[in-house]
Amino acid sequence: MFEFGKLRFRPIEREDLKLLHEWENDFELIMYSRSKPMNFVNMAQLEKQYEEWVKDEKELRFIVELVDSKEAIGIARLRRQDWGNVKTAEVGTYIGKKELWGKGLGRQITVALLEMSFNQLNVDRCEAWSVEYNHRAHKALEACGFKKGGAMRQAAFVNGRKWDGFHFDILRDEYLKKRTNLLKQTLGDKLEKYSEKHCTINGY
Ligand SMILES: CC(C)(COP(=O)(O)OP(=O)(O)OC[C@H]1O[C@@H](n2cnc3c(N)ncnc32)[C@H](O)[C@@H]1OP(=O)(O)O)[C@@H](O)C(=O)NCCC(=O)NCCS
Repeated sequence: MFEFGKLRFRPIEREDLKLLHEWENDFELIMYSRSKPMNFVNMAQLEKQYEEWVKDEKELRFIVELVDSKEAIGIARLRRQDWGNVKTAEVGTYIGKKELWGKGLGRQITVALLEMSFNQLNVDRCEAWSVEYNHRAHKALEACGFKKGGAMRQAAFVNGRKWDGFHFDILRDEYLKKRTNLLKQTLGDKLEKYSEKHCTINGY
């Protein structure tokens, strides 16, 4: 398990599928996270997907929970690939508890994914994808140092029209330049505890 401030990242267990069933069928949540709001899944389909996840060694999938209460608040994923002989982590997240949107947790989850990618898995770059109307996600990604790249034009059809998709990425050196500030901002008084365990680069 990976702890980052008040957040814990733990593997998805079969017992979590009930919660995922609720989140994965939430029109608004999936409209933002995957731009496929009609992508409803029943329990049997989720169980089948879960069996695939168990076998998939390239992707880490987590339940994100609050350390203190152990309440599950969302999911995060990190997919490793080495297209072009460069190690890349494709990251993504959603906060299933919608009442927690806009409170800074997305930024914390994103920094945690960057820490896993650069400080543990030694990747060269991280990337993420987000649909044009997802301004909240764009802000959270950019606040963590991701740069908006090219648009995939008219890549999603939602609510009566086509939307572009945007690619975001951050290189290892770019992250290391920002790391100290990002850790200070996102960890606050939990920085010292985190530093003792994990900080061996960039002077922290
Ligand atoms: C995207 C998501 C993970 C971001 O997490 P979050 O905790 O809500 O985001 P944060 O509070 O860390 O940051 C959101 C930023 O957007 C801003 N924001 C909040 N609501 C907004 C809105 N409706 N429009 C534009 N910006 C908004 C916030 O002010 C904040 O910016 P700031 O840090 O400059 O003040 C979360 O909202 C979520 O799960 N959304 C649904 C699924 C999803 O979109 N997943 C990501 C797919 S790429």
